[in-house]
Amino acid sequence: MTSRTHAVSMILTVLTLLAGAAGAEEAQAPVDNITAAREEDGRYYTADDVPTFKIAEDGTVDWLTYSGFRRYHAECHVCHGPEGEGSSYAPALKKSAIDLDYYAFVDVVTNGRKRVNVAENSVMPAFGENPNVMCYLDDIYVYLKARGSGELPRGRPAKKEAKSDAIRDAESSCLGHN
Ligand code: HEC
Repeated sequence: MTSRTHAVSMILTVLTLLAGAAGAEEAQAPVDNITAAREEDGRYYTADDVPTFKIAEDGTVDWLTYSGFRRYHAECHVCHGPEGEGSSYAPALKKSAIDLDYYAFVDVVTNGRKRVNVAENSVMPAFGENPNVMCYLDDIYVYLKARGSGELPRGRPAKKEAKSDAIRDAESSCLGHN
């Protein structure tokens, strides 16, 4: 081997190692259904662009998680139990928010679901026409996901991020206030 080809093969080896290292770093980027990969105007999304929660080390929660806590306890807990824990009548939604695909979750809430027969009488109402649910669907979903992940303890979150202007604007146009 001449010293020139030797040098070339050294460079190739170094390049291959560098490429390998970059690949390993990419593989570590969170691609699960929970970890926040990006933030946009106070909302957090996974690598797959599905809404998710964000809890800081000091326990501060993102606005949607806080809002979802309130909305869940206004609209869903009568059947699904406090804190997403489930009841004898309806399933534990903190588990559903982890197990179900986001779009499947949205579909059930929008269109409802029934299992009514001799053995069962299980009715999930359709909320598609209810702005107090539909305008806060992501809030409720990310709150339940935070509960299901084990990262959010029971109870009203003590510390929260400020509500962004974008969230405020989306809310009032969804509710038909402008
Ligand atoms: C009147 C009682 C009632 C209310 C209120 C209610 N649900 Fe349900 N929900 C049910 C029942 C019962 C089921 C199980 C339906 C079935 O057996 O298919 C269910 C199922 C679901 C499922 C599917 C769970 C899974 O793992 O497959 C989701 C998601 C859901 N509800 C979300 C909500 C949300 C969000 C709210 C509040 C906006 C809500 N529900 C309010 C009764 C209710």
